[in-house]
Amino acid sequence: MFGSGLCIPVIATEAQFLNLAILCCKAQLSRFSSRVPTHLIILNKVCRSYWLRRSSLDSEGIKCQSKKTAELVDCEYADLNIKEIYGRGQIGHVRIRQHVNPLSLLFRVPMQAPDWDIVFDDCKLPLMVDIGTGSGRFLMWLAKRFYNSRNCVGLEIRQKLVQRSQFWVKELALRNIHFISTNATISFDDLVSSYPGPLIFVSVLCPDPHFKKRHHKRRILQKPLVDSILKNLTTGGQVYMQSDVLEVAMSMRDHFDPQADLLKHIHAIDPSFSCDVDGWLLHNPMGIRTEREVHAELQGARIYRRLYQKI
Ligand SMILES: C[S@@+](CC[C@H](N)C(=O)[O-])C[C@H]1O[C@@H](n2cnc3c(N)ncnc32)[C@H](O)[C@@H]1O
Repeated sequence: MFGSGLCIPVIATEAQFLNLAILCCKAQLSRFSSRVPTHLIILNKVCRSYWLRRSSLDSEGIKCQSKKTAELVDCEYADLNIKEIYGRGQIGHVRIRQHVNPLSLLFRVPMQAPDWDIVFDDCKLPLMVDIGTGSGRFLMWLAKRFYNSRNCVGLEIRQKLVQRSQFWVKELALRNIHFISTNATISFDDLVSSYPGPLIFVSVLCPDPHFKKRHHKRRILQKPLVDSILKNLTTGGQVYMQSDVLEVAMSMRDHFDPQADLLKHIHAIDPSFSCDVDGWLLHNPMGIRTEREVHAELQGARIYRRLYQKI
């Protein structure tokens, strides 16, 4: 399919297509043993710049596409009425750096757990944790939906986003949600194991892809985090992962699929959750899309999802 690497940057305009292209290149390894590494490097660069271009459109908030996605996100979260409080105070719109380096010294210090009794009205309620929560709207939506029955914690490395989420939480008077500015890879275990109630749900949704191989160690889902999720999750608890980048989704899946003695994919438990032939869920099971998901789908990308349950 990709006999010449030169045509790749021209034809690769959709994330979905890029994901497919990576797979095709990998499949061609044996035929182009000397050339394929170059193909992969080119593809990797294209994927990265394409993803970043999409991201920068999001953060600049000035381009037409960005306006459209912002409107769609407002629509998705209309229930929250956050738009109403955008303008109040300085904190409604924040400009943030595209990426931070989770390996830098600043982010290597584990966060001390808060006093859960102060944070939540009832700190024995089942807990839902969203890792790399971004703007936090997804979790706020869940907190509103499960008010009085669940607590929610959002872990996000970028402090400005957390400040804004906490501002929104206060304005919305939600007492069952709390955002923590921390490197989740480092702090998850201490935070979650100190929580007095059961951990029933963990999500890792559209994490930063860190395309370059040497940057894979910056990815949020690392083995110690996976071990901690498995250890802390209560029986019957669920782990939900998704990405608009197939390579990233596959690397997350490679962490969870081999844990077959502890985790089952949801469609093996409940066949009404349908999957494609590769085992990716055909539909979003949450009833709400994340911001990244909205942006990505607007760009024509596919979202690769898996939902596991602890047995
Ligand atoms: C692409 S965004 C996705 C946000 C959200 N989950 C969504 O789907 O819209 C990834 C988020 O993960 C955050 N992040 C990256 N590494 C992190 C880490 N080690 N700990 C906590 N958050 C992290 C980033 O700052 C960013 O907000």
